[in-house]
Amino acid sequence: MGAYRIAALPGDGIGPEVLAEAQKALGAIEQRFGHSFALTFDTVGGAAIDQFGTALRDETLAMCQAQDAVLFGAVGGPKWDDPKAKVRPEQAILGLRKGLGLFANLRPIRVYGPLLAASTLKPEVLADVDIVVIRELTGGIYFGQPQKRWTEDGVRHAVDTLPYSEPEIRRILQTGFDLARGRRKKLASVDKANILDTSRLWREIATEMAAENPDVQVEHVLVDAMAMYLIRRPADFDVIVTENMFGDILTDEAAMLAGSMGMLPSASLGARRPDGTGLGFYEPIHGTAPDIAGQGKANPLAMILSTAFMLRYSLGLETEAVTLERAVESALESGYRTADIAGLGGKAVSTSEMGDVIAGLVAG
Ligand code: IPM
Ligand code: MG
Repeated sequence: MGAYRIAALPGDGIGPEVLAEAQKALGAIEQRFGHSFALTFDTVGGAAIDQFGTALRDETLAMCQAQDAVLFGAVGGPKWDDPKAKVRPEQAILGLRKGLGLFANLRPIRVYGPLLAASTLKPEVLADVDIVVIRELTGGIYFGQPQKRWTEDGVRHAVDTLPYSEPEIRRILQTGFDLARGRRKKLASVDKANILDTSRLWREIATEMAAENPDVQVEHVLVDAMAMYLIRRPADFDVIVTENMFGDILTDEAAMLAGSMGMLPSASLGARRPDGTGLGFYEPIHGTAPDIAGQGKANPLAMILSTAFMLRYSLGLETEAVTLERAVESALESGYRTADIAGLGGKAVSTSEMGDVIAGLVAG
């Protein structure tokens, strides 16, 4: 029995609704296993811009640093979308990733049997899909300097910069090797080595590390080819590791294999303690879905599965994580469906009813 401290950052749109269901699920885990989870709530994203004039306050970052883990809903919305605005909700995510040193983003893609028909792809292409994409999260073009716009002789210019260093590349590839070792031992390293110097450095280091990790089978795949393979033969891939922006794009594509964004969790991890745990940031892959916010239509399962990742990767509570994941599988098998997956038939439930079902299954 343990006592754990968790930052809860609901954000905007459906963020608060899905985070409330994760809290419900955690309550059921507390009861069943005798743990205590102390949640500290704070405001981030658009809501923080409205209230404080900034998407992420220093005290919010400091609070998160002092916790065992961070649960995050989603940020953004049309109200804050002006591309000219100096403050943007997304700055909260980028500031937390960088400020908490969360360099490894794990985005698993699993296709749940009962939801096979929700994907636009043929079921036979999706059978046996079980991929984890590891996206580098604190380097590359997202953070490189210079990043600016200027006007010269009346002509507008802009520049972004894509830097990577050996330690940054090594640690993310190492995460890939470690994860692959516990799975099907296949690692696809994705780059654009035919064009970019950063990718050539990446591939060189990946090749050296492949020799140091002979038990893992490594293949190098160009990012454009990977975009194609992901929809043509996704079941062939086990762990995919790539840099920040390639990972951003490929994970949205890969998410479509699962049919609904409402099903996909993610974990963002920093340095690990010897027992494998460490501070982490857990958020669903989906966004704020402003069109359905406040209507009880959001699917809380991605947030609940992200909470299972928190139990596993930050708190070291494997049995509890599996209990939550089994509850999700069992709710789907029993036919419970939120609006995003309702087209498949079954019992239509609201966001909070789905949360009740999961909490009930956890309680046993
Ligand atoms: C994601 C999102 C973010 C990103 C945005 C919201 C900053 O698209 O987590 O994939 O680009 O990393
Ligand atoms: Mg993205």
